[in-house]
Amino acid sequence: MTQDELKAMVGQAALDHVVAGEIVGVGTGSTVNKFIDALAGMKDRIQGAVSSSEASTARLVALGIPVFDCNDVGEIAVYIDGADEIDHQGYMIKGGGAALTREKIVAAQSRRFVCIADESKLVHRLGDFPLPVEVIPMAARRIARQFAEFGAEATLRLKDGQPLVTDNGQHILDVRGLGIADPLAFESAVNQWPGVVTVGVFAHQKAQTCLLGTPDGVRTLKFD
Ligand code: 5RP
Repeated sequence: MTQDELKAMVGQAALDHVVAGEIVGVGTGSTVNKFIDALAGMKDRIQGAVSSSEASTARLVALGIPVFDCNDVGEIAVYIDGADEIDHQGYMIKGGGAALTREKIVAAQSRRFVCIADESKLVHRLGDFPLPVEVIPMAARRIARQFAEFGAEATLRLKDGQPLVTDNGQHILDVRGLGIADPLAFESAVNQWPGVVTVGVFAHQKAQTCLLGTPDGVRTLKFD
């Protein structure tokens, strides 16, 4: 089974977690794109979606799914999103698609986080995947030096040879060489650094469920 097929399988399986009559929180990425495509098949049974990126919004709208602003809705029943890494507690690294800040905002407004991922994303300890950190551009070099003090290397993410600009008009540092032993403490600490918009560790907004795509089918992990 290809990785693409595994992603399609969990995207489809996530429909079972969508609450009829409600608004669903929608993440960003290639796995979520499969979910959005599947969601179109039940669009008449939901009110619509809250989206975590311009890219997901465009895909939802193109499929005729109404998209609401976070400020116009209350608590969201469920948030469906992918991950770059997820551990056995439901803690994640996210932001490979540069949408981490809005993803964390929608996750924080949601009762449950259902992570959809192929089995390559499951890890024992977070940190092999370069950690995305969204930063205010004027603080990027200082924040990179702060990571260097921990023996890690932070590089500015580029697109077409220029610093990538997020949906929020900010930049992304990708940080290599971190072993994240205590995701909750790590997330809290880095969030305090001046100029950090969002750190891509999702520990305070962890997943309660992970639908993991394997060649034997969807494996459901529960973390509550
Ligand atoms: C985007 C994300 C994605 O959820 C993460 O990068 C996984 O993406 P994909 O499903 O394409 O592997 O955090 O910011």
